[in-house]
Amino acid sequence: MTSRIAELFSLKGRVAVVTGGAGLLGTRHRVILESAGATVVSLDLLPCDDGESILCDITDSAAIESAIGRVIEKYGAIDILVNNAARNPKVEDGLSGWCRFEDLDRQTWDADIAVGLTGAFLVCQTIGHHMVERNQGVIVNVCSDLSVIAPNQHIYRQEGVAEHDQPIKAVSYSVVKHGLLGLTKYLAAYWAPHNIRVNAISPGGVSAAGQNEAFVTRISSLIPLGRMARVDELEGAILFLCSDASSYLTGHNLVVDGGRTIW
Ligand SMILES: NC(=O)c1ccc[n+]([C@@H]2O[C@H](COP(=O)([O-])OP(=O)(O)OC[C@H]3O[C@@H](n4cnc5c(N)ncnc54)[C@H](O)[C@@H]3O)[C@@H](O)[C@H]2O)c1
Repeated sequence: MTSRIAELFSLKGRVAVVTGGAGLLGTRHRVILESAGATVVSLDLLPCDDGESILCDITDSAAIESAIGRVIEKYGAIDILVNNAARNPKVEDGLSGWCRFEDLDRQTWDADIAVGLTGAFLVCQTIGHHMVERNQGVIVNVCSDLSVIAPNQHIYRQEGVAEHDQPIKAVSYSVVKHGLLGLTKYLAAYWAPHNIRVNAISPGGVSAAGQNEAFVTRISSLIPLGRMARVDELEGAILFLCSDASSYLTGHNLVVDGGRTIW
């Protein structure tokens, strides 16, 4: 790396917390931040296969306070927060019935909001105290292309399944992601005087093992680049948002969707 590139993208000496760091994308966020030199701790219900993790339910404010306290005690500071955890059921795998808008049960709604939105709010609040005190910090909220557009339910359709049982992307997912974008803009403005940058990343659908072929074909036809994202294709955007390369960026939603939302 030339020294200017290192200066822009290096995270050497910085400490990052990634919620949902044991999941499909959280793992990749952790790995790229570590590759850039950061110390990374995952807060997740599940342990990471590799890397440091604290088991923590981000809907529980006492558990968050204890986990964040442990990180600060061990490393002295937290420079970066990636709010990545969410309930993300894979509609394309054929979940059906229960998530139709008319039938969505209150429990599912509450649980989705509790993790994706309230969880992000609670973690921001806890880490925010610390970042405000230090007068520095970077927060990245992981939204979705569904923070910008409505789900096209057609892509989840399954042949031979009755209308009422067709798989549907739940409204709670849209509400969580639009809400998280609202939180992003609110905090970007609110904490700008404290030198804390808050941005969102909005990935489109990511390829994963076992995805229904018809789903992949349909979603790909809605994307100018003609395909879903590879699991490693958010790494550049995450590093950009977490590093000094984006030092003048705040309140932004970086949509990484192969162009889906421009069509
Ligand atoms: N995979 C995609 O195609 C895609 C596309 C756009 C946006 N996203 C977003 O990216 C993020 C990660 O998605 P993913 O596909 O890696 O999902 P994933 O299900 O693989 O990972 C989510 C992680 O969050 C953790 N988690 C759930 N509830 C928790 C809680 N209460 N406390 C702490 N951790 C909790 C889970 O244990 C899991 O490890 C999500 O916010 C998702 O909405 C994913």
